[in-house]
Amino acid sequence: MKKILTTVSAGALFIAGAVHAEPQAEVLHWWTSGGEAKSVAVLQQEFADNGGTWTDMPVAGGGGDAAMQALRARVLAGNAPTAVQLKGPAIQEWYEEGVLADISAVAEAQGWADVLPASIAGHMKCEDIWCAAPVNVHRVDWIWANADVLESNGIAMPTSWDEFNAAAEKLQAAGIIPLAHGGQAWQDATVFEAVALGILGADGYRKAFVDLDMDTLKSDDMVAVFDQMRTMRGFVDPNFPGRDWNLATAMVMNGEAAFQIMGDWAKGEFLAAGKAPGEDFLCASTPGEGFLYNVDSFAMFEVAGADKQAGQALLAELIVGKNFQKVFNLNKGSIPARTDVSLADFDSCAALSSDEMAASNSGGSLLPSYAHGMALRGAQSGAITDVVTSHFNSDMSSQEAVEQLAAAVANSL
Ligand code: GAL
Repeated sequence: MKKILTTVSAGALFIAGAVHAEPQAEVLHWWTSGGEAKSVAVLQQEFADNGGTWTDMPVAGGGGDAAMQALRARVLAGNAPTAVQLKGPAIQEWYEEGVLADISAVAEAQGWADVLPASIAGHMKCEDIWCAAPVNVHRVDWIWANADVLESNGIAMPTSWDEFNAAAEKLQAAGIIPLAHGGQAWQDATVFEAVALGILGADGYRKAFVDLDMDTLKSDDMVAVFDQMRTMRGFVDPNFPGRDWNLATAMVMNGEAAFQIMGDWAKGEFLAAGKAPGEDFLCASTPGEGFLYNVDSFAMFEVAGADKQAGQALLAELIVGKNFQKVFNLNKGSIPARTDVSLADFDSCAALSSDEMAASNSGGSLLPSYAHGMALRGAQSGAITDVVTSHFNSDMSSQEAVEQLAAAVANSL
């Protein structure tokens, strides 16, 4: 349903300047790890350089679950933040609540439609208006490894799940933790969707986690996905419950663990710690075809005041700006959302991401990450993750998990 929306005008800055309104923004985000904080600082700096006053509202917690709870509380209290890190179908869900501002004037003045791939632009639209600004493309289905640990144990990056399991057993026998993992629901879901993509294939993944096709959710292949999750449960250390994702990345950095399956925000951690790809750490896509994308974006909430509206216009303009898209993504581990930013200064992992994104786009295997809120609405993705995490943290059989998965999805519709 179309709601009354505040319109953020591209001319707001100039108009605001005339009435001496200076751009203000309170920005809610969950970028608090080393690499994330370095990245968001780029936006903060550009905002300040352009006369803006930034009020930071970081809500710690990888994957953003805590940030989204904080957002709901603020909106219910009638005091929405100016700008919010928000992505995927949650953007449209908030739009339907009638609380998002229309940033079409900025988007049109800056020609976003010409520089963003259609698949990304689609996530930024609510009905016929632009309602979010994209900062990047993160890939989720990555495996990261400590280069020395693999070399000294005679292990190559695995290209199949069987190879992964064989490598993990060898590492375990050598006293190394095979898989650095943090036992938080969103991290379980992150590993699960990478395994699911590998075992189900791109079409199977799409049927299961985009179309919610019951036959696929209940299939023998899905049983095999849970079998692999059970095997992987045996490869994590006993202290995994509750561990933050960046602490798991640190275990790979310091050689305590060999691998981590995590989106390329993990690369932001390696880089922030001064580690080099190909030398200190290795990156490869997890076994199987396809590419799971996770596009971070910001939505502007309906707020009163010329200064805040000027802040929204300035933020939207900067976020999609060419310089920001480059510098931010060099720090964040992702690649630019814009198609016209040179990757010359980016590393080999970013080049791989960009090449495989293009190849999977033409091959029909470019897919939204369910674990990072790109594929499904909150009720459905939450129902799936509940089953994934309760299977991982119990002795539930794969058959039982598949039955629970199908029932949970059916109940959430
Ligand atoms: C993702 C988000 C990334 C990264 C990660 C860990 O959902 O898209 O930008 O921050 O969570 O916090």
